[in-house]
Amino acid sequence: MLAEPGQRVKIKVKVNGVEYEEEVEPRKLLVDFLRENLNLTGTKIGCDTTTCGACTVLVNGKSVKSCTMLAVQANNKEVVTIEGLSTDSRLSVVQQAFKDNFALQCGFCTAGMIVQAHYILKEKKPLSEEEVRDLIHGNICRCTGYQNIVNAIMDASRRMGA
Ligand code: FES
Ligand code: FES
Repeated sequence: MLAEPGQRVKIKVKVNGVEYEEEVEPRKLLVDFLRENLNLTGTKIGCDTTTCGACTVLVNGKSVKSCTMLAVQANNKEVVTIEGLSTDSRLSVVQQAFKDNFALQCGFCTAGMIVQAHYILKEKKPLSEEEVRDLIHGNICRCTGYQNIVNAIMDASRRMGA
């Protein structure tokens, strides 16, 4: 069924453990929903071509570029953003490893990188440097700080007991 211009659709989404019910235009992107409706501005928009990964979030545990998904497609799903990775204001292991390894410069790519790192480390399997580089190939760091980012992810992997 086609939506009328200006028509809004009710969606129910759990974001970082909190249930939200919101009305959105069917064309609204998930990234815009997170930033504008929920004020979760940690998720960034770094391109309009689905290439940079600054908008990466987890949807039902899978890594997704939230600029490529409509908010209505997240209906009845569970989303985790960068804001949902720390607990009681304590950094996650990955966040701490990024801090300790100086794995950011301007920080614009960092939220997406960290969410992607959580995704690739969730199985706690040991990863080679080459595998880490391959698994973050969808996330661009325009400051070209890749070496420290890779170091941080490998460090986090060790800290997680992989
Ligand atoms: S903003 Fe989503 S991939 Fe660049
Ligand atoms: S730290 Fe600047 S874009 Fe990655």
